This record gives sequence, C-alpha cells and structure tokens, in this order.
Amino acid sequence: MKKLYLIGNHKMNMSLNELEPYFDNLAEIASTSENVVGVCVPYVYLNMAKGMLEGSKVLYGAQNMHYKDNGAYTGEISAHMLNDFNCDLVIIGHSERRAYYNETDEDVNLKIKKALEEGITPILCFGETLDERNGNMAHSVVERQIMGALADLEYEEVSRIIFAYEPVWAIGTGVSATSEQAEEMISFAKRLIADEYGVKTSIVLYGGSLKPSNAQDILSKPSIDGGLIGGACLKIKDFEEIINTKVE
Ligand code: PGA
Repeated sequence: MKKLYLIGNHKMNMSLNELEPYFDNLAEIASTSENVVGVCVPYVYLNMAKGMLEGSKVLYGAQNMHYKDNGAYTGEISAHMLNDFNCDLVIIGHSERRAYYNETDEDVNLKIKKALEEGITPILCFGETLDERNGNMAHSVVERQIMGALADLEYEEVSRIIFAYEPVWAIGTGVSATSEQAEEMISFAKRLIADEYGVKTSIVLYGGSLKPSNAQDILSKPSIDGGLIGGACLKIKDFEEIINTKVE
C-alpha cells in the first residue's frame, strides 16, 4: 500500500466555532488512517490547532511566513513564531501568494531556507498558468520555479521539502488536471530534483480541484505521493473520503 500525504489548505476560510468539531473529527479520522494527514490553517487558529491536534496523528501548520526572524514588518509572521505553536508544516509559494502578493522565486527561496532552518517542513508549491500551458511554457515555468526555490540548498535540505504541483488553472476552478497531466508534470519535477540535487525519492503532491470523485484516479498514479486539498478539505466528510483513499 502506498502511504499518501493528504494535506488540507484552509486558505481564508472557516471560523473558531466551525473548527472545534472539525479538528476533533480530523484527529479521529487520522487516528485510523494509514495515510499522512495534515492541515494548514490561518495564523489565528494555530493556537487552537496546537491545543487540539498536538499529540494526534494530524500534522498542522500555516499557509505562509516571513523569511526574517523579526523586525518592522507590519502584519507579518516569522518562522520562529510558527515554532511557538509547534507547527509541523508551512505552505510556501502558493500561486495565490505569487499572484496577489507578488511573491517572487527569490522570496520563495528565502522562505524555504528559513523554514528548514527552523525545522518546519515547507510545502513548496509550483505550477503554471493556463496561458503558460497553452504557450508550451509549462515545463520551463515549473523548472524555473523549482530551481529558483531551491537555489543554494544542499541535498539534505532538499530531501526535507514536500513539493506540490498545483497548476494555477486547476485551483479552485472545479476542473482538475487529468491524472495523466498531473503524472507527467510530477515525474518531470521528480527527475529535475533527482538530477540537480541527487534527491531520488522526493515527495510531490498534486493540488487543484482534488475531490472525492477524482482522488482515486489521480492519487493512484505512480509518481503522485498525495494531494494538497483546498475547497474539498473544508467539508470534513469530503476530506475524510479523500483521506481514506487506498492505493496499491
Ligand atoms: P483547490 O485548492 O483544491 O480548492 O483547487 C488547492 C490549493 O490551492 O492548494
């Protein structure tokens, strides 16, 4: 049986009241699952995640962080602060942050380095837009994003990263990549990471409209190690169905 990584990305969703039963349910679901379960919540709920999920089988963390330790950066949160809440995970370079907050490959690289230095597992997102795919640039964009994010890193550091291929055109649209498209790009990314850094067993997830109806098909592809799940993780029943996916 393949051990899948199934990690929810709440984005800017859910409330304190909703999260209480949600975390309870998630801890219960994860306790009997063979898969690795995780969830990335808004900063303000990390204290609650620590209280309710620490010691359970659910990994938890944030959706972003700053690469500086402290200073005059109004509204920002450091990796050190995430460590105050014992975060396991932090999403870095999500396409929404690249698109709406102008995050560059250089920012992503600095954040990845800082997360690793602080012992938090970064989930490094990469993926092309529809225009880039239609313009036959998907592979060069993915290569630029991965190489940019990993600049100056060593084998040992790269081996601690979880990668997530998230084609921008599939995120939140209801239209996922086909399992063949996802497999093709993820195997390309894995080859690149192996050739450039010697890491032959990188973990690469797929993200973009992953849901109960397509999870089995996508997650059973040989190169795909799991999923980063947005919309479908907000409903605990849907997330449970995805978490219960079994792949040989
Ligand atoms: P989605 O989001 O599942 O809602 O498409 C995935 C993501 O952005 O991580």
